[in-house]
Amino acid sequence: MENFVFQNATKLLFGSGQEKDTGSETAALGKKALLHYGGGSIKTTGLYDRVKASLEEAGVEVVELGGVKPNPLISLVREGIELCRTENVDVILAVGGGSVIDSAKAIAAGVYHDGDAWDFFTGKAEVTKTLPIGVVLTIPAAGSETSAGSVVTNEEGEYKRAFGHESLRPKFAILNPELTYTLPSYQTACGITDMSAHIFERYFTNSTHVDVTDRLCEGTLRSIIRHAHTVLDEPENYDARAEILYAGTIAHNDTLGVGRIGDWGSHDIEHEVSGIYDIAHGAGLAIIFPAWMKYVYKHDVERFAQFANRVWDIEIDLNDLEGTALAGIEQVENFFDSIGMPTRLSDVDIDDTHFEKMAAKAVENGPVGQFVKLEKEDVKRIYELAQ
Ligand code: NZQ
Ligand code: ZN
Repeated sequence: MENFVFQNATKLLFGSGQEKDTGSETAALGKKALLHYGGGSIKTTGLYDRVKASLEEAGVEVVELGGVKPNPLISLVREGIELCRTENVDVILAVGGGSVIDSAKAIAAGVYHDGDAWDFFTGKAEVTKTLPIGVVLTIPAAGSETSAGSVVTNEEGEYKRAFGHESLRPKFAILNPELTYTLPSYQTACGITDMSAHIFERYFTNSTHVDVTDRLCEGTLRSIIRHAHTVLDEPENYDARAEILYAGTIAHNDTLGVGRIGDWGSHDIEHEVSGIYDIAHGAGLAIIFPAWMKYVYKHDVERFAQFANRVWDIEIDLNDLEGTALAGIEQVENFFDSIGMPTRLSDVDIDDTHFEKMAAKAVENGPVGQFVKLEKEDVKRIYELAQ
C-alpha cells in the first residue's frame, strides 16, 4: 500500500427533501451567491423555484448565471468570473451536474487570478484562493460534488482539460435521489458508466497489498451493476436511485483510491473524443474503456482475472487466466451495451479522421496512464480498437 493522506471535507446532506436546507447552508458560506446552472432542466423540474425560495428565506442575495453546457466552456467561465467580480459575489451555488459544478470551480478559482482562467488548465497558473462552493446535485455521474477537480473545454483548439485544488472541493453537497427521477435514461446510463469508470481507473493499479480498497472497489461496482437496470426500468424507484446516487459520490471522493496509484489513461483518451465531438463523457468512456482493457490486460492478467471473478462472477480458469480476463472485459462491454451506451466509435458516427490528432493531443504533456504508460502510437491503437 502506498502512503497516503486522506481528507474530504465536503458535508453531504443526503435524502428526500434535503434541498430545503440550501439557503441555510449557503448563508453559512456567504451573503451573496452566484446561482450557477445548466440548460434549464432545473426550471422544468421546479427545483429552481425551491432553491430560490430557500435562498431568499435565508437572506442570501442572488446573482444568476445559467446556460452551462454539458462539456462546459471556458467562455462562460470567463463571463462568470466577471460577474462575480462586478457583483461582489462571495459564494457560488452550483445546481446541476458535473458540468455546472466544474464551471463553478473554474469561476471560483478564476476570480482571484489576474490572468486568464485557462491558465489553470495549462498549468501556467497555480490556484491561490477560491470562492467557497455549495452544490445541489441533479445527476449522479462525474463525482464533482466532492472532488477537487474541474474539467472544462476551450473552444479555441477543442481542448478539454482538467485542473484541481483541494480548496475547490465543495463545502456542502445536497444529494436527494428524487431530484434524479427526471433524468433521461441516456443521461442516467452515462452517469452509471462514468462512476464505473472512476472505479476502474483506481482498480487497475500496479500498487500491491491493496486488498481493502480492491474489495471496496469491487463491492461498489457490484452495487452499481445490481441497481443499474432498476433505475432505468423504474426511474422513480427511490431506493435504487439512492444507491446509484451514493455510488457516484463514493466512486470519486477518493475513499476507493487511497493507498494505490490510479491509472486515468482512459479519461485522458476520452477527453480528446468529447473535446472534439462534444459527445457525453460517459458515452465516450463506454467506448474507450473496453478498448483500453483489451490493449493493456496482458500487463497484469491476474488482476484482470480477479476483476472478472469478483465483479462478474466468472470462474477463474487457472489453465487459462487470459481467457478469464477476456471474459471479464467482454462483460464490461455487454453491461454498457445493456444499459444503452454506445461501445464503439462507429456507434456515434466517429471515424478515424482525427485519430492521429487526438492521439497527439492526448500525449502533449507526456505519456498517459500509470498502469501502463501509453505513448501516441498506443493511444492511436486504442482508438482503432474502439472503432
Ligand atoms: O443542462 P441541463 O438542462 O440541466 O441538463 C443536463 C445536461 O443536459 C441534464 N440533467 C442533469 N440533471 C438532470 C438533467 N436532466 C433532467 N433531470 C435532471 N435531474 O443532464 C445533462 C448532462 O449534465 P452534465 O452536468 O454534463 O453531466 P455530468 O454530471 O455527467 O457531467 C459531465 C462533465 O463532468 C466532467 C466530464 O468531463 C463532463 O464535462 N467530469 C468531471 C469530473 C470532476 N470534476 O471530478 C470527473 C469526471 O471524470 C468527468 O471528467
Ligand atoms: Zn469521468
